[in-house]
Amino acid sequence: MIEVEHLTKAFKDKKKTITAVNDVSFSIQKGEVVGLLGENGAGKTTMLRMIATVLHPSCGSILIDGIDILKDPMKIKRKIGVLFGSETGLYERLTARENLLYFAKLYGINNHEAKGKVEQLSVRFGMKEYLDRRVAGFSKGMRQKVAIARTLIHDPEVILFDEPTTGLDITSANMFRQLIHELRTEGKTIIFSSHIMEEVKLLCESVIMIHKGELVYHGKLRDLYAEEKSEDLNDIFMSRLVEGA
Ligand SMILES: Nc1ncnc2c1ncn2[C@@H]1O[C@H](COP(=O)(O)OP(=O)(O)O)[C@@H](O)[C@H]1O
Ligand SMILES: [Mg+2]
Repeated sequence: MIEVEHLTKAFKDKKKTITAVNDVSFSIQKGEVVGLLGENGAGKTTMLRMIATVLHPSCGSILIDGIDILKDPMKIKRKIGVLFGSETGLYERLTARENLLYFAKLYGINNHEAKGKVEQLSVRFGMKEYLDRRVAGFSKGMRQKVAIARTLIHDPEVILFDEPTTGLDITSANMFRQLIHELRTEGKTIIFSSHIMEEVKLLCESVIMIHKGELVYHGKLRDLYAEEKSEDLNDIFMSRLVEGA
């Protein structure tokens, strides 16, 4: 379970303060798939970065399975897999396999287990042919697969994807949607941000809507549909933003 309480992040520079996330609270149950919706600049990436322990909140707390992520970030890192947009974080000069083994080592997975996991993921994502080639020559789709494998190498319970399908071609985007669907079946807890309402409708049971850093809605999609007497998520989103503003 993920419990976010009064989460706030302010970025300060010499002239002004930008409150990217403003007093946001919600909780997500184990095994839930949540769509994070918001316009550009709404605070989605900032929020996911804080949950991923890579950005320190200005205020508020985040607990995963009852553990405060700031008190035990290493333990939390092992529980979460993250993929932020097109930042694959791969080492160009290493092969796909070397990259994956390197990240496995960072998570403290022993060599034998890591090798097995790499084999398993390479079959799952059809990477066998290029597993031992250097990432430097890879296409975007190939990189994406290695990056996904990296996200899953330590078998995380919680997975954070920041706009995973933005900028992908149709085939890769569909592969990604299929993956989220499979991970959902495996019982993973997933938060993913997206601009694509159809994808959120298809994959999520709940949504979190944020607007200018503030929480506008959090709840089950079916409850939202019932409240609004409509299943047009685009429309609902727009009207909620106006209300929230
Ligand atoms: N490192 C940073 N320094 C200053 N401002 C930032 C930084 N990161 C994000 N912001 C600002 O915080 C707000 C939210 O950004 P972001 O979380 O990236 O939104 P989203 O992912 O929803 O598009 C924006 O106004 C953005 O300019
Ligand atoms: Mg973003």
